[in-house]
Amino acid sequence: MKLINRTHTCGELTGKNEGEMVKLSGWINSHRDLGSLVFFDLRDRWGITQITVDENDGEVFEKAKTLRNWDVVSVDGIVRKRPENMVNNNLKTGEIEVAATNIILLNKTEPLPINIDEKANVSEELRLKYRYLDLRRYPLQSKLILRHKIALSVRNFLDKRGFIEVETPMLTKSTPEGARDYVVPSRIHRGKFYALPQSPQLFKQLLMISGFDRYFQIVKCFRDEDLRADRQPEFTQIDMEMSFVEEEDVFSIVEGMMVEICKVAGYEIETPFKRMTFKEAMERYGSDKPDIRFSMELKEISDTVCGSGFKVFDSVKESGGVIKAILVKGGAEYSRKNIKDFEDFVKTYGAKGLAWFKWTDDGFNSPILKFLGEEKAKALFEKMEGEKGDIVFIVADTFETACTSLGALRLKIAKERNLIPENTLSFVWVTDFPMFEWDEEEKRYVAMHHPFTSPKKEHIELLESEPSKVMARAYDLALNGFEIGGGSIRTHNMEVQKKVFKAIGLSEKEAEEKFGFFLNALKLGAPPHGGIAFGLDRIAMILAGGESIRDVIAFPKTTSAMCLMTESPSNIDSKQLEELGIEVKKEGN
Ligand code: AMO
Ligand code: AMP
Repeated sequence: MKLINRTHTCGELTGKNEGEMVKLSGWINSHRDLGSLVFFDLRDRWGITQITVDENDGEVFEKAKTLRNWDVVSVDGIVRKRPENMVNNNLKTGEIEVAATNIILLNKTEPLPINIDEKANVSEELRLKYRYLDLRRYPLQSKLILRHKIALSVRNFLDKRGFIEVETPMLTKSTPEGARDYVVPSRIHRGKFYALPQSPQLFKQLLMISGFDRYFQIVKCFRDEDLRADRQPEFTQIDMEMSFVEEEDVFSIVEGMMVEICKVAGYEIETPFKRMTFKEAMERYGSDKPDIRFSMELKEISDTVCGSGFKVFDSVKESGGVIKAILVKGGAEYSRKNIKDFEDFVKTYGAKGLAWFKWTDDGFNSPILKFLGEEKAKALFEKMEGEKGDIVFIVADTFETACTSLGALRLKIAKERNLIPENTLSFVWVTDFPMFEWDEEEKRYVAMHHPFTSPKKEHIELLESEPSKVMARAYDLALNGFEIGGGSIRTHNMEVQKKVFKAIGLSEKEAEEKFGFFLNALKLGAPPHGGIAFGLDRIAMILAGGESIRDVIAFPKTTSAMCLMTESPSNIDSKQLEELGIEVKKEGN
């Protein structure tokens, strides 16, 4: 390809190009005026090339002197080898420099409002306001390039296996992923609204009914929910659906795809992935997305500590709760203050307290040693496989609270003590989820995945009688403690689908209003089908070694769902509101 404004990129020239006349275009960096000599780096996405101009170069020299960092220029020049002692081995172009013969200033740049040097300490708020400048930084560029490569590898992998990418509507009807919808008012149909899709769930199932057999889409999804480091209001899914499949078919395609995705980031991973039931994940790791890169597993210790006179434990046990513990190696060094902080931390997860046992040089130490006694303390350390120098933390509560609070403490402590191996990828399938969970606020069952998930065949008859016992044909894929994907084998039978709706408290009329089009389609030749969707942002974040998905999204939103660069959301014209038939209630109205 012949380009008008450059013969090479700024990351390309080596000693082999010595003597060539070249033309480069880019941004000026590290402009240095040494009096009789001007140096600068010319920079673009591909790299950096050093440009030199000396006083014998007349007009070019004068021009070079007037340039400033981040000016946009085009440079003609001759490639020269650098003197031996000036070679920079850290740079691909470090062997050479370009002696400029002509410089064209393509655009003068005003001083940048933020410092975007790699090491500069600039608040994230300012970085987001000037995101397009922040994105000039190589570490961010390389994350977005990695994301591009992941998406490309997914497309290639799935294309080879007969999947086709089909686009589905963005202006649609509310979809059932359990978050709030982002809605779009209709001008033509005053008072009516589209919802932006929380996922293309129903459309992909409809495509199976159309006979496409294998669908995928790399697609934007929108959810109005509380944001966290791994959640954005708009995010991207790798969405997939297949006909005539069982769980094993989905697992096998996905594992193959993950091998390719990880290769892009330089990881060789092993398949098949580990599997764990939801219950086991909760019991051992206190999480439905267990981080299995390190152990420190939760153990049930009621046999060891109950019946000793510590009322809290006995009464929790009697009321059907559990007593869970983790062991922290070397944790006997924790101060009262450390422990108090941990206790406050588990309380944010609903735990009522945090009991502990240390084994120090002076023997066992615990605020409840007087109840349990030395014998039980010893038995406890045996059970937890601990030794002198360690600490055991205990939470007694309902299964859910004891597991999740200790699971969270496990992660916090592992991070603080650097117990998590770096550069490892630990995938685990989580299976055997309950179909429903009880929503205390709404006083009804809600679908744990979504209501189009098929119940296990043998549990269909429990849908009406004992919904809490129904298990789902659902699965999640966790990677390093993040939920990177979730899916299920679907219900393809209309009658079963209606029963599921009923179980989550949808009346026949409501089901018809919301999903009538879909129920109808289920009657018209729906093949057995199943699928899964992955969070592309989360996968890219993990593979890029980051902790925030904002890093792998070009123009992300803040945790309060704002775009600081475009300043959205923002007010709209009263004329627009008028057209839409919308009146905005002022605060206090
Ligand atoms: P689910 O709701 O589990 O399943 O979403 C699939 C995956 O999408 C990612 N994800 C998110 N990533 C960033 N920000 C968010 N707010 C966010 N919400 C979800 C997660 C999650 O695992 N239709 C079903 C899939 C199916 O059944 O096939 C669905 O959307 O990584
Ligand atoms: P108390 O008798 O309430 O002072 O509690 C004694 C110790 O038991 C304190 O360290 C509390 O944090 C702890 N504790 C209280 N309730 C629980 C609980 N449900 N699970 C674990 N530890 C608890």
